[in-house]
Amino acid sequence: MVDVPTRSLNDGRTIPALGFGTYPLDDATAEEAVVGTAGLGYRLFDTAVNYRNETGVGRGIARAGVPRDDLVVTTKLPGRDHGYEQTLTSFEQARKRLGLDYVDLYLIHWPLPRVDQYVESWRAMVKLRDDGLVRSIGVSNFTPAHIRRLADETGVLPAVNQIELHPLFPQQELRDFHAANGIATESWSPLGRGSDLLDDPGIGAIATTHQVTPAQVILRWHVQLDTIPIPKSGDPARQRANLDVFGFELGPAEMDAVGAREHRRLGGDPDHHEEF
Ligand SMILES: NC(=O)c1ccc[n+]([C@@H]2O[C@H](COP(=O)([O-])OP(=O)(O)OC[C@H]3O[C@@H](n4cnc5c(N)ncnc54)[C@H](OP(=O)(O)O)[C@@H]3O)[C@@H](O)[C@H]2O)c1
Repeated sequence: MVDVPTRSLNDGRTIPALGFGTYPLDDATAEEAVVGTAGLGYRLFDTAVNYRNETGVGRGIARAGVPRDDLVVTTKLPGRDHGYEQTLTSFEQARKRLGLDYVDLYLIHWPLPRVDQYVESWRAMVKLRDDGLVRSIGVSNFTPAHIRRLADETGVLPAVNQIELHPLFPQQELRDFHAANGIATESWSPLGRGSDLLDDPGIGAIATTHQVTPAQVILRWHVQLDTIPIPKSGDPARQRANLDVFGFELGPAEMDAVGAREHRRLGGDPDHHEEF
């Protein structure tokens, strides 16, 4: 079993350096995947109301046989529930589906600037944290402008911003902003889902040097960038390999080579993307 290192958050809590993404697993497969990956050493689990698998994730957590305090269970507020009261209600429903007394990390899934309710949702999340129902609060797909507004209007910075980040979209500027403000960066689509990144010959050559797989090279790149990748795999062998990235190190030239390619987003632009 892999003993995953942890990182400190700006609220005094900790988070594993690598986690397990559960989209698009359904309830039944998510349940089995959580039990299986917990057995491999995964301690950070990522779901969302909009993944429609919180019930399965919660059942997996209950069956995993891991002390609750060792786990970081994450879920996310959907766009249709933005607003103060709506956020409190939505959270309670999510917490019940997960079957948990508290959620470790609660994120606003997308900022939805056109709707312009994310600050109100943030106030509700601060209350949930203060009431002990959530351990850490954060955001996802927020830009520096969105985060500055949270800080200006509520005085509370997120502990985490979960963003699209992979070698095709390394987000240097946003990572620098996070580092300057003590915000941890989580990487979604860390392996560049849907692209041909895993077939890249340059990454393949580095993998051969270290006798690992291309996916392990990319996940190690995230760890050395100080970002927290949450790869999804439905396959037990790939789940195992994806966690096993703490026994080798990429050199500076290899780190540069992994990120040195034409950069492009695979997902939505946070200033315009709407997910309800
Ligand atoms: N906050 C957001 O807006 C947002 C958006 C997207 C995703 N997410 C989160 O981020 C998680 C991960 O992102 P993602 O699922 O989009 O992309 P990803 O983790 O980059 O890629 C997943 C894909 O890669 C394959 N894969 C996994 N490990 C592999 C390996 N070792 N070798 C070869 N192929 C491998 C998987 O197939 P197999 O299953 O067949 O292995 C799957 O098709 C999601 O599950 C979700 O929790 C968040």
